[in-house]
Amino acid sequence: MSDCDWAAFTDRGPWVLHQDQLAWMSVTERLRAAARAEVPALTEPGRVPRLGRMAVVVGRLGAAVGVWWVRKRLGRFESAEASKADLSRRLRLAIERLGATYIKLAQIISSGEGLFPTELVEEFKRCRDRVPAEDFDVVRRTIEADLGCRLGDVFAHVEPEALAAASIAPVHRARLLDGTAVVVKVQRPEVARLVRTDLKIMSWLAPHLVGRIPVAALANPPALVELFAETIVEELDFRMEAANMVDVGKVLHDLGRHGYVVPRPHPELVGRRTLVMERIDGFNFDDVDGMHAAGIDTEAVIRTGMVAFMEGALIHGIFHGDLHGGNLMVLADGRTALLDFGITARLDDDRRRAFLRMMITATTNDLTGQMAALRDLGALPRDTDLQAVISDLRLDQEPIDPTTLTGEEMVAEVQRVVKALLGYGARLPKELMLYVKNMVFLDGAIARLAPDLDLLAEVASISMMFAQRHGERIMTEIGIDAARMQVDLDSVKAGLGVDLSTERLTYRELQARRDLIQKRMRAHVESNRR
Ligand SMILES: Nc1ncnc2c1ncn2[C@@H]1O[C@H](COP(=O)(O)OP(=O)(O)OP(=O)(O)O)[C@@H](O)[C@H]1O
Ligand SMILES: [Mg+2]
Repeated sequence: MSDCDWAAFTDRGPWVLHQDQLAWMSVTERLRAAARAEVPALTEPGRVPRLGRMAVVVGRLGAAVGVWWVRKRLGRFESAEASKADLSRRLRLAIERLGATYIKLAQIISSGEGLFPTELVEEFKRCRDRVPAEDFDVVRRTIEADLGCRLGDVFAHVEPEALAAASIAPVHRARLLDGTAVVVKVQRPEVARLVRTDLKIMSWLAPHLVGRIPVAALANPPALVELFAETIVEELDFRMEAANMVDVGKVLHDLGRHGYVVPRPHPELVGRRTLVMERIDGFNFDDVDGMHAAGIDTEAVIRTGMVAFMEGALIHGIFHGDLHGGNLMVLADGRTALLDFGITARLDDDRRRAFLRMMITATTNDLTGQMAALRDLGALPRDTDLQAVISDLRLDQEPIDPTTLTGEEMVAEVQRVVKALLGYGARLPKELMLYVKNMVFLDGAIARLAPDLDLLAEVASISMMFAQRHGERIMTEIGIDAARMQVDLDSVKAGLGVDLSTERLTYRELQARRDLIQKRMRAHVESNRR
């Protein structure tokens, strides 16, 4: 029997997985509980952080900026772009030396094409899979300690040079004794300790941020730190990662989604810091030219990506929580391989239902339903007067197209909304953070792979598909009759800030609008400063 009968694995793997014979699967529940239990101690605020590490962080980043600043002063740069590129490179080098916590932040920025400066995005792309690896001696020692045997007892060969490396663990090509080609992911030796130290600093810093910078409250720094602690502790034990690969593979299979595949973890060779798995060959997610030359429809790649990711979250409450260019590969047949299951988001049933309600009501223009869902997700306090929020924020009125406003009007509008949100005690709920982070990735991915995709048509067709495939569930879980569901994209359009009469909106057009808005707001802020 093939294991493709129960999970979305590649067509032919180096071995066949049997659900009941996965050595590491039985311990994962216990490990996950232990990881959760460790979080409060890690995020306890008020503890004095390690001053040494703080000094190192401030020193490295400060030195990077300092050297750049002096060179700029000396007129060493020929253009503004060259200056930005130099600063970006210095920051990237500093970040690589600071380790996993900072590399992860850089990966988020690298996904924000169009949201962050181009030079920074380009430079930080290296942090997705081209971070310097570890010495082979260190790699060997970790594998041997983890698997409890000599390297030669398991592998015929392990390539000393890493195939790729990001924040937690470089990945090496290898061959098992029977000749099977695999890759082995081996955790960096210092990462567990460093990340825990960084967490203490962040826990100490987070409440200060909220106290000093009121707007920071919207981003909810304490919850951000908590989320980071929860995910990173799980990520540091590869037995949980292997279990995540199997769980996500099963969900994709159950949904009948064939656009995504997951590599097979090895049924035995998985330890805390060592993960042997099937090797995937494909296009780097950024290699749009290569994909086009191979006849791959990159718009289809994006479309399947959006659907599978939303369905996983809304129907099963589980999704890949760390989408970035280094964690995806596109296969020659146009399917996408998901890699790196260190961060796999799991929503409990209440949150998942609220989430489902939020997405469905957004496409039927049901404002009250949407607000109630946001409240249930924890974005607004329980006793919020939803109607007051709707009328305060003028959500029930014809949206104002921001491109028709002057810089001054825009800044005033943003200030008004931020002030109102702070007044209600609004904050980004923890459960939505990974989703938002993935949306930043998706935004940049559309920019590269499908700039001419009509976003409004996509939203409409995805919601129709949802109503058709999951109508029964939508009815029993959130009481909305999908058969009568009228797709009305007014609230989607309002969210994107376009006129309600807009019928088509490509990413390219959206980006042009964003650029215009940013430029006007910046011009206004600068003219005030003068
Ligand atoms: N099964 C695989 N086959 C081929 N290449 C792989 C495989 N798994 C991972 N890689 C490559 O190795 C890189 C690092 O692996 P992975 O993303 O799992 O490490 P990480 O340190 O956890 O990354 P992150 O910083 O995203 O948390 C990936 O970006 C990818 O390029
Ligand atoms: Mg990765």
